[in-house]
Amino acid sequence: MAAQRLLVDIHTHVYLPRYASFLRSRSAAPRIFTRTTPTGTKEERLLILDDEPSGGRPIGAQYWDRDEKLKFMDRHGINVSIVSSANPWLDFLPASTAHQLAGELNEDLESYCSTSPSLSSSDTLKRLYGFGLLPLVPEVSINSLLEIVDQISKLPHLRGIIMGTRGIGNGLDDEALEPVWEAIAKAGLVVFLHPHYGVDSSAWGAKDNGHVLPLALGFTFETTTATTRLILSGVFDRHPTLRILLAHSGGALPQLSSRLASCIDHDPVVASRLKHDARYYLGKLYFDAVAYGPEELGFVSDVIGRSVFKYGSDADGFSSGTKKVVGSSRMLFGTDHPFFPPLKETDKWKSVTENLEAIESVEGWGEVEKENVRGGNAVRIFGLGS
Ligand code: URA
Ligand code: ZN
Repeated sequence: MAAQRLLVDIHTHVYLPRYASFLRSRSAAPRIFTRTTPTGTKEERLLILDDEPSGGRPIGAQYWDRDEKLKFMDRHGINVSIVSSANPWLDFLPASTAHQLAGELNEDLESYCSTSPSLSSSDTLKRLYGFGLLPLVPEVSINSLLEIVDQISKLPHLRGIIMGTRGIGNGLDDEALEPVWEAIAKAGLVVFLHPHYGVDSSAWGAKDNGHVLPLALGFTFETTTATTRLILSGVFDRHPTLRILLAHSGGALPQLSSRLASCIDHDPVVASRLKHDARYYLGKLYFDAVAYGPEELGFVSDVIGRSVFKYGSDADGFSSGTKKVVGSSRMLFGTDHPFFPPLKETDKWKSVTENLEAIESVEGWGEVEKENVRGGNAVRIFGLGS
């Protein structure tokens, strides 16, 4: 099938122009501000956390301009991108503002995608699809969340929802979110679970290590914790059709899943709470392939495959082959663009080529598995082509 030869980027962000203007109007983080560099030129910077290292980072058209996204895609051979708003989404807003902005940004993203070029003159497939946003903030009404899930489900180019880890203030294992999971599962939307806050920054010590510790470790551990709490809450037992895609290949969860299972088995509070061994639930999840190394990708696919063979999860895609083969059907190429730009001018971004080379070199993945991770899985999971 021709569609299986597409390169599809499922982890790629935008600050839509409406959102970027909003950030420019703010005087506290998250905000975009202008500063004069030591050489006297003006630069815009993005500050997304109060205590962010290096006073934030430079920001430019790559973050909001659709033509820049398409140029980046062309330069790297990316056929289709499923674009999501970047963190911190609407997390910092009062409920009524968050609701209104969610509705507007979802419409903006739909038109960003629907007016994008078609893949080819004979193809109805567009180059851009999107993940919508929910007003996940404290004191929002559940009806407001359900209304926006409904809005997203009716916007044809939005195929999922990007979500942080805080829920409406008490995390994603909050019982108040039950109707939201139900509605998302029923609508067939894919939740893209993405970090923002990291972990307690006192762990990073006093040395200036730029953004390295929060990005490499804080982000990934935040995702690990949020997903573990979701598993422990029984969400996947109650909503078996819920599809959740984890950023950065699930952080540390694949590495820690047997330890998690053992801790559950030995804990009198939790031991009989779940229907399955904890490792089963890793086979319910989807994982981006933003891990930058073939060994890591191979390991994650092995762990997912084990969920299928040993713990009875569904094989979504392949049902026979090695664990690595079966596990690869739940992994999807991503870039994290426009984050991780090269430090020096180059044609291609290392953060992209390294992820592509990693997919190419996983031992135990054949051509079919690699093609699926590059695009075939995204076509199937996001219903591209329909
Ligand atoms: N990648 C993201 O998606 N967000 C950040 O803030 C940094 C890297
Ligand atoms: Zn990201």
